[in-house]
Amino acid sequence: MASKVTVIGTGNFGSTVAFILAMRGSCHEVVLHGRNINVAKGKALDMSQAANAAREHTIVRAAEGPEDMAGSQIVVITAGAPRTPGMSRDDLLTMNAQIVKKYALEIKEHAPGSIVIVVSNPLDVMAYVVHKYTGFPRERILGMAGILDSARMAHFIYEKLGYGAGQIRATIMGGHGDTMVPLPKFTTVAGVPISDLLDSEEIGEVVKKTRDGGAQIVNLLGDGSAYYAPAKSTAVMVDAILKDTNQIHSCAVMLQGEYGYNDIVSGVPVMIGANGVQKVIEMTLNDLQKTRFKKSVASVQEMVDSLCKTDFFNDCEGDENA
Ligand SMILES: NC(=O)c1ccc[n+]([C@@H]2O[C@H](COP(=O)([O-])OP(=O)(O)OC[C@H]3O[C@@H](n4cnc5c(N)ncnc54)[C@H](O)[C@@H]3O)[C@@H](O)[C@H]2O)c1
Repeated sequence: MASKVTVIGTGNFGSTVAFILAMRGSCHEVVLHGRNINVAKGKALDMSQAANAAREHTIVRAAEGPEDMAGSQIVVITAGAPRTPGMSRDDLLTMNAQIVKKYALEIKEHAPGSIVIVVSNPLDVMAYVVHKYTGFPRERILGMAGILDSARMAHFIYEKLGYGAGQIRATIMGGHGDTMVPLPKFTTVAGVPISDLLDSEEIGEVVKKTRDGGAQIVNLLGDGSAYYAPAKSTAVMVDAILKDTNQIHSCAVMLQGEYGYNDIVSGVPVMIGANGVQKVIEMTLNDLQKTRFKKSVASVQEMVDSLCKTDFFNDCEGDENA
């Protein structure tokens, strides 16, 4: 069967995801769906030609309208305003919730069988909005953040060590924000626990740098936020679905009793395959890790509650998870 991935949003993140998929020949067709059709057309042509240069078979097309996402196995939502210096991910809440809602409704109508990968920020709440407005089962909605945050933590461990690049497996749970929960106890370099390689002060510095990793890049760029590592992390999820790898990655999913939470999205280890979320993995956490995870879930809940107070969800028809 021909594989088709629609990427909504043709900004830095969306076009980089599409480009990575085209360069890897991950699927037969990538559709770029953005509010500026000429930009989508120009980028689609450029990427299709790049795929030819790379001897890959992927065709990139621009959507004339939302109906062109029909038949997509995966839809990636990247549309949304990015952070500007001094702005937190949470400041984006109301603005991006409206944008994501609009696209969730389009997906529900035109690509009702698709798996949705959400990346717009604030990530966990945007994934929640997609749940509420598509009504899709939780297996078919994943938020991308954990792979990125883990990659950032791995990089900062490498910076401290000066070796081990590509061999560092860092683990992060919780929301994609200031309350993310890096888990040094589950972090290794070629199987060696980082506690055998770094002292607790150094590990603390790595954790802090990881939490501030997105803001560091925002401040350096001065305009916009990171997109190379985020786009690659998203492409990893697309590949895991299309190739049915059943690999475990940290992703934001709707919790249904796991870790003691219900009807809230947070980052947890997830087995990803052809059906999207194949399984949510429950790790054994110690008391400190549980407390931090609780705080992280609470911060996502606060944002959901503040959207509820604006009657944001009043016109939503409910979802299969309710
Ligand atoms: N989950 C993560 O780990 C992660 C990492 C980086 C960025 N992000 C988020 O991804 C999103 C996109 O980032 P980017 O770097 O591509 O930003 P960008 O500014 O380069 O692109 C934004 C895209 O959204 C579209 N858009 C903006 N407002 C819109 C509206 N009102 N209606 C329809 N489309 C609209 C723009 O046309 C553009 O295509 C942001 O929300 C950013 O915060 C998430």
